[in-house]
Amino acid sequence: MEKILIIDFGSQVTQLIGRRLRELNVYCEIHPFNHFPMPDADTLGVILSGSPASVRGEHAPAIDLTGIKGKLPLLGICYGAQYLAYHFGGMVENSDSREYGRAMLNVVGESLLFEGIPQTSQVWMSHGDTITKLPEGAEIIGSTADVENAAYHIKGEPTYAVQFHPEVFHSEKGLDMLRNFVVKVCGCKCDWTPDSFIETSVADLRAKLGDDKVILGLSGGVDSTVAAVLLNKAIGSNLTCIFVDNGLLRKNEFEDVLASYQNMGLNVIGVHSGPLFLSALEGKTDPEAKRKAIGKTFIDVFDAEAMKITGARWLAQGTIYPDVIESCSVYGQSSKIKSHHNVGGLPEKMNLKIVEPLRSLFKDEVRRVGRALGIKDELIGRHPFPGPSLGIRILGEVTEDKLSILREADAIFINSLRAYKCELPCASEPGRTAYNLYDSIWQAGAILLPVKSVGVMGDERTYEYTVALRAVISTDGMTADWVHLPYDFLANVSNDIINKVRGVNRVCYDISSKPPATIEWE
Ligand code: XMP
Repeated sequence: MEKILIIDFGSQVTQLIGRRLRELNVYCEIHPFNHFPMPDADTLGVILSGSPASVRGEHAPAIDLTGIKGKLPLLGICYGAQYLAYHFGGMVENSDSREYGRAMLNVVGESLLFEGIPQTSQVWMSHGDTITKLPEGAEIIGSTADVENAAYHIKGEPTYAVQFHPEVFHSEKGLDMLRNFVVKVCGCKCDWTPDSFIETSVADLRAKLGDDKVILGLSGGVDSTVAAVLLNKAIGSNLTCIFVDNGLLRKNEFEDVLASYQNMGLNVIGVHSGPLFLSALEGKTDPEAKRKAIGKTFIDVFDAEAMKITGARWLAQGTIYPDVIESCSVYGQSSKIKSHHNVGGLPEKMNLKIVEPLRSLFKDEVRRVGRALGIKDELIGRHPFPGPSLGIRILGEVTEDKLSILREADAIFINSLRAYKCELPCASEPGRTAYNLYDSIWQAGAILLPVKSVGVMGDERTYEYTVALRAVISTDGMTADWVHLPYDFLANVSNDIINKVRGVNRVCYDISSKPPATIEWE
């Protein structure tokens, strides 16, 4: 089976390269630079990823490219481009021409990589170092206003390099450039599709699990839901799902989601544990301390519930491919920005074996599998929601009062997004159309700030909280851009929140991209 190998130098967005190639129906594997398999006869090309490191650094991640460069099609991205320059006769320096965010790429001359790409298009940059001299035998194929050597080709070799990130959604023609690389440079047929995924994994799960009992933690999110339905198809009533109400969920979320699970024929135990989580959060203001408190309480609650299921041998998890890749740390100092706890620590404590039916899939592939399994759009199209829930959208200490303020404001925002009709690209599944704002947005929510400000309502002075609204488009949460919501929409939501939610007299809209901001405020 033809494949492309991606060498991971530890960039936050390496897995997007893989996701993009899968979108092009090309099978690919991501491997850390220090455990890289030698390309075999099926390897049609190699991609070098970006990295948080500098190629000039003492501990810069490195790889021996003998046997690859000049022999197989090779594409260097960001750090990968600098790596090829630095090690093959060029020069990389920390210069003034670093760029973060949007830049306009001008195509120079003719190359296979940029065939059919418009003369000028937006690309996404994120680099401190700059290539000041091209490697031996290279010619410039693209420049930006600040960076002359933004893309190059090594003459006589199928070796290409780009300083920007074509894998990132905000590089307008990035997917076309990657298609050019895999089709025109590597000669891929692009015939890998996940169609048979359900059939083969149901058979594999039956063979692996036999008559064993399996426990699965449902969260209301797409991954755990699809994993549950797939397992249910494979082993039926031997699967028991546990859905924990951590008291930090959105308005009516627990009841609504539980009802849809039950309608799908899943065997689900719903556990109300809000008070336990709230008392664990008492007095805690630091985001990481809050995450840890929520994570630990979740494990305790889940464990106690799971103990009641006699004879369980397996714990199923909705782990997807990005989690698998993320978990292999390629570079010691590669920045851990926030600890995403999910169910870490559970299996050890419970002495269960792990089964992860979605381990090889990217998020949009999970959605496609979910649809094929007959899961309703409301569940498939739900925005991602963090495990610590509203606990990290109330900045500072979490209290019952603040939770009810935030729940109301958030419900107004989310319901208004669903009600606003439009025709835009769907945010979660390439190629689909969104008919309301909610589906055109990757993730949205309200945040309660620990800031009170003065206002006036009627004849009275008020001194109340501020709510921030956040709406972003993204592909896998690793980079994101704020959504240009219509002004009339923002005006109505702001009005509604201030008029209907007691305790709020001011609404702001967050216009920061990631990086440098993150999606969640904590
Ligand atoms: P950030 O804030 O890091 O978020 O830009 C990226 C994506 O991850 C989600 N997120 C979390 N998910 N546990 C989770 O399960 C967490 O602690 C957590 N923190 C952030 C966030 O909602 C976004 O989708």
